[in-house]
Amino acid sequence: MFIVFEGIDGAGKTTQINLLADRLRALGLDTYVTAEPTGMPTGRDIRRVLSGELQKTPTQVAAMFVQDRIDHNVDPEHGIEGKLAAGKAVICDRYYYSSLAYQGSLTDFDWVMAANCTCPEIRRPDLCIFLDLSPEESMKRITKGRTSTEIYEKAETLAKFRARYLDVFEKLRARGEKIEIIDASGTIEQGAEKIAAVIEKHFGV
Ligand code: TYD
Repeated sequence: MFIVFEGIDGAGKTTQINLLADRLRALGLDTYVTAEPTGMPTGRDIRRVLSGELQKTPTQVAAMFVQDRIDHNVDPEHGIEGKLAAGKAVICDRYYYSSLAYQGSLTDFDWVMAANCTCPEIRRPDLCIFLDLSPEESMKRITKGRTSTEIYEKAETLAKFRARYLDVFEKLRARGEKIEIIDASGTIEQGAEKIAAVIEKHFGV
């Protein structure tokens, strides 16, 4: 069972991932939680780019994410392949859907899609769960005491990324990917119940 969570800022990925992991463990499933960018060398370099410390072109960044994702699949110690082979359920916070939504809008989309989705060492997840939240609701959750202009600009950016995600999901569904879009606007408990229902539908647990 290889499940990926995606969502724009404030959608509650971390909270819901931890709740799902607890639920799966309570059911007796050995569950491994992981995230991208990883804590491995390429992932650490990506963090330096995201913080502005290291300058790279959008195509270089996209390639760094691909490299980090390959390492994340095949690394003998931390790799997803090994965890699955050992019988664990794997839950990952962000995966190639993020690259398609973010890097795909900054460099050539088709190249980003090919690099990720035809790569022999980047496994296709069994299920992607997108926690969907309106950009306005997201801003309410993540902003505290900022000016209205900043909030407006940020909400516009979030709206753009949300639209990119929805577009990417349509393309990937056409390739047979299983993607569930969950309304994350309610309480944490309501979100967790919806996620539990989706997991039951796909995996019977
Ligand atoms: P992170 O600190 O994990 O943020 P979040 O809590 O929002 O997930 O940083 C991840 C950042 O990296 C986030 O801004 C999205 C970006 N990202 C990409 O642009 N492409 C990718 O392929 C991945 C995995 C992440």
